[in-house]
Amino acid sequence: MRSMDRFGIWVLAILLVIQSSFGFYLPGSYPHKYEVGDYLNVKVNSLTSIETEMPFSYYSLPFCKPSEGIKDSAENLGELLMGDRIENSPYRFRMFKNESEIFLCQTDKLSADSLKLLKKRIDEMYQVNPMLDNLPAIRYTKRDGYVLRWTGYPVGIKVQDVYYVFNHLKFKVLVHKYEEAANVARVMGTGDAAEVIPTIGKKDSDVPGYMVVGFEVVPCSFAHNGESTKKLKMYERYTTPIKCDSTRVSMSVKEGQSIVFSYEVSFEESDIKWPSRWDAYLKMEGSKVHWFSILNSLMVITFLAGIVLVIFLRTVRRDLTRYEELDKEAQAQMNEELSGWKLVVGDVFRAPSNASLLCVMVGDGVQILGMAVVTILFAALGFMSPASRGTLITGMLFFYMILGIAAGYVSVRLWRTIGCGEHRGWMSVAWKAACFFPGIAFLILTTLNFLLWGSHSTGAIPFSLFVILLLLWFCISVPLTLIGGYFGAKAPHIEFPVRTNQIPREIPAQKYPSWLLVLGAGTLPFGTLFIELFFIMSSIWMGRVYYVFGFLFVVLILLVVVCAEVSLVLTYMHLCVEDYKWWWKSFFASGSVAIYIFIYSINYLVFDLKSLSGPVSATLYLGYSLFMVLAIMLATGTVGFLSSFWFVHYLFSSVKLD
Ligand SMILES: *[C@@H]1O[C@H](CO)[C@@H](O)[C@H](O)[C@H]1NC(C)=O
Repeated sequence: MRSMDRFGIWVLAILLVIQSSFGFYLPGSYPHKYEVGDYLNVKVNSLTSIETEMPFSYYSLPFCKPSEGIKDSAENLGELLMGDRIENSPYRFRMFKNESEIFLCQTDKLSADSLKLLKKRIDEMYQVNPMLDNLPAIRYTKRDGYVLRWTGYPVGIKVQDVYYVFNHLKFKVLVHKYEEAANVARVMGTGDAAEVIPTIGKKDSDVPGYMVVGFEVVPCSFAHNGESTKKLKMYERYTTPIKCDSTRVSMSVKEGQSIVFSYEVSFEESDIKWPSRWDAYLKMEGSKVHWFSILNSLMVITFLAGIVLVIFLRTVRRDLTRYEELDKEAQAQMNEELSGWKLVVGDVFRAPSNASLLCVMVGDGVQILGMAVVTILFAALGFMSPASRGTLITGMLFFYMILGIAAGYVSVRLWRTIGCGEHRGWMSVAWKAACFFPGIAFLILTTLNFLLWGSHSTGAIPFSLFVILLLLWFCISVPLTLIGGYFGAKAPHIEFPVRTNQIPREIPAQKYPSWLLVLGAGTLPFGTLFIELFFIMSSIWMGRVYYVFGFLFVVLILLVVVCAEVSLVLTYMHLCVEDYKWWWKSFFASGSVAIYIFIYSINYLVFDLKSLSGPVSATLYLGYSLFMVLAIMLATGTVGFLSSFWFVHYLFSSVKLD
């Protein structure tokens, strides 16, 4: 009881620390009402490119700077980890006022260096990501009669060896009239908001208010008259009308020449309601494919479940046959079939080699799997919609740290079980569990971060954030894991149903090398996963919004079931041929799916990310992939191990009954 109290206080304290240091603020989760004439400020996110996967700050290129100075407005940890840098921009609108030919600024004359950089960014297909009221700008293009939807617009374009920049922007803002009560009520239903700021009833129905429900941009390249802009100040009207034609480019960049930036904006009333303003970004495409993916997994599951059922029937039927008078012949045959695993009864619970490593890996696997399940569940329920940037990563980090308790508990309890109740060394196992995966992750991410620092990308984690992450690790994650370990050491260990002989049995020569079986087993979970994997990959690397978390949750559950079944079947096969070293094999039977995922990601790099340019980008890609694959291996391996452990325990408990 005392320990439970202490536990509660700990959790409370940790929650408070986290709350106060970051706070779970969900940006864009309640409607903002603007009255006619109110200023709307456009913000800009990092420049991104699917060719390099390295984000850069908007102001690293010679764009107009806001007169009040550049301000960072990142809102949470996840955003920073994702490489988002949201800054203010000089673009500003007035609600429901159409304006055109607004002069923004004239840049300094381009030096050779900045021209080179600009050309490089255009070559690498960098794009600008403006945002209004948290909505990223959408751009529509027509090709072969299809309308394509993009977010953001390119920095520039190269046409016949001449580089052009898009220096005139034509914005369109879709607005919806603000209706007091109706909106707030509806927002609750979207699940987009954890907290709804109540709009205290100021009855100002005479002043019409609007909400932003859509933001579109058409980039144009327009050659301004440099002489006539000399005397203009920001936001003054450009002298001649600007015709924005997105199919023609005319502002080429040359050394020693300056660029004039301008914009126009029009407001249109729209039927889109505030809660559904994200629908334009999340249009369901290929939902059939997701269903197909699930169907595919279900087939694999049913197939495996059939095998599992047969195994169970065989072992259970033995008990039943005692009562039903089976003929002798059938019984003899059955006994022979079953003989293999019964022979290893004295060895099956012999401690594996590297037992502490196995315990640590299973503990960390439980932690990662738990984090994945909880995060995806929350995302599926709509708490981490793409509308609130960065919450997904923040949430993952949060759940990961909390689940340190589970990691410590599972590793230590398993350690004691393998050692038949031996307490010695639990501290070291708990420490290793706290440092194994985070340590490797830290190593990989630090290496990648040096690469990003070297290239001045905003994807690099700033030093202060690095310190915060280290503090989170050592001040929250490690203590929690040690606490979990303490509970694991207190809990009774799991008794093995049979005794282990002094002298190990010899394992007879096998027909197939067991590593081949283990590797082959990984293909089954991979089969359930690979369709969904394509969508996940393109959301991570191509910047497409991933939103089908409901599907992902189902796929995750199916994956867990398949992993459990595969490993169980393989363990049974090994025991039947008198190979009693099942501990590690059961881990890798399902964990080997990670190898296939890594191969898949290399294949994705070669065929889908063809344009990924430069060794730095490729290294980044491979580094991140390696990190993910490691996490997947720990999680899937753990599922397989736990199911096999339960199965072996069950199987030999039934022997004891005889
Ligand atoms: C702004 O212009 C668009 C078309 O260019 C028009 O449909 C809309 O009504 C105008 N809005 C205002 C507030 O004048």
